Amino acid sequence: MTKTALVIGITGQDGSYLAELLLSKGYEVHGVIRRASLFNTDRLDHLYNDPHDPTTQLMLHYGDLSESTSLRRICDQVQPDEIYNLGAQSHVRVSFMQPEYTADVVAMGTLRMLEVLRDYSAASGKAVRMYQAGSSEMFGASPPPQNEETRFHPRSPYGVSKAAAFWHCVNYREAYGLFIANGILFNHESPRRGETFVSRKITRAAGRIKLGLQEHLYLGNLDARRDWGYAPDSVEAMWLMLQHPEADDFVIATGEDHSVRDFLDKAFEMVGLDWTKYVEIDQRYMRPSEVDHLHGDASKARAALGWAPKVDFDGLVSTMVEHDLVLAEQEKTLKDAGHSITPRGQFADG
Ligand code: NAP
Ligand code: GDD
Repeated sequence: MTKTALVIGITGQDGSYLAELLLSKGYEVHGVIRRASLFNTDRLDHLYNDPHDPTTQLMLHYGDLSESTSLRRICDQVQPDEIYNLGAQSHVRVSFMQPEYTADVVAMGTLRMLEVLRDYSAASGKAVRMYQAGSSEMFGASPPPQNEETRFHPRSPYGVSKAAAFWHCVNYREAYGLFIANGILFNHESPRRGETFVSRKITRAAGRIKLGLQEHLYLGNLDARRDWGYAPDSVEAMWLMLQHPEADDFVIATGEDHSVRDFLDKAFEMVGLDWTKYVEIDQRYMRPSEVDHLHGDASKARAALGWAPKVDFDGLVSTMVEHDLVLAEQEKTLKDAGHSITPRGQFADG
């Protein structure tokens, strides 16, 4: 029997890799997308077929976590077996500037989705399974290594909202016996990472500076340490959580941590440049309260799900730099033909 999955946040980094994974496993995949004034499906375009083609396995529907009516209608129409809630205002620095909006989408949006799940499960009689995208940002100030037993001490409106969403999920699991798995994922990156997250901001800049398209890279705190993994490895863990016999919560991490400085060293070494000549510190990229050190212990996921990361830190940085060098070469060709090229990752204060 073909399984049907509903992915909220399908246009994001993780959503696009998850859609690829599910399609490769024979799923019919439905995604929720937001209406935007420009198309926002770049990360999915290689997967998308004309919906009028009866063989297409990927369908997109307009909806939003801020509106339960749309989520309810989509769920009733699609009749999913598995729901992946990856939708979020996912930028930590932006959450300090838009705290109410972040809480509404991340915490309340999850609660809205849970209410839809509750009613849909009862009406359909299906044993529906839901994945919730939790975050290591929930651990915040708790010292490393962090695992499923570590106390949450979030340090941003985003982290607080993710912690609220986590507990809503635990509560719905206990109250209504629903299958809901919380993934507690540490940072994961890829060539599809948004360009205002530090990893991609660095690899985009390395490529552009190498080709003379950018002069400086403005950053904030270089001392923060993160457990950086590879996004395709992370989405595999999401799927494994929903195939597990019991609904549970799992930390997903590489078990290695590096500083932003280490990331700069590796990325600029790959393009043969000394980053200290280009990087400038800009206070607007600092956070009112910072998460200093994340280092995950994913022993539970290794034992129960058989999950392990396939790509290490060096492999991750190399993949991203190689990809962004090619992008920079394309931009250079455009620039040489008279087009203007803007380093958009440095546009806004986030
Ligand atoms: P992302 O690239 O920022 O993607 C977020 C997705 O959520 C996008 O598809 C976005 O749509 C959608 N979205 C935003 N607001 C929405 C709303 N109001 N209603 C419905 N959808 C909405 O994030 P990601 O890196 O793929 O991360 C996926 C999930 O995992 C997020 O919940 C994130 O908080 C969480 N997480 C990420 C990491 C990480 O390191 N990547 C680690 C732990 C947890 P648009 O494309 O239209 O903006
Ligand atoms: N974004 C950004 N931009 N971060 C910077 C910069 C900069 O110019 N300079 C230094 N940093 C530091 C941040 O202060 C932070 O300590 C670290 O780099 C990583 O920042 P991000 O890449 O923005 O990621 P994050 O750790 O805040 O959040 C990401 O990971 C979480 C999981 O721990 C996001 O993907 C969240 O959605 C996710 O939940």
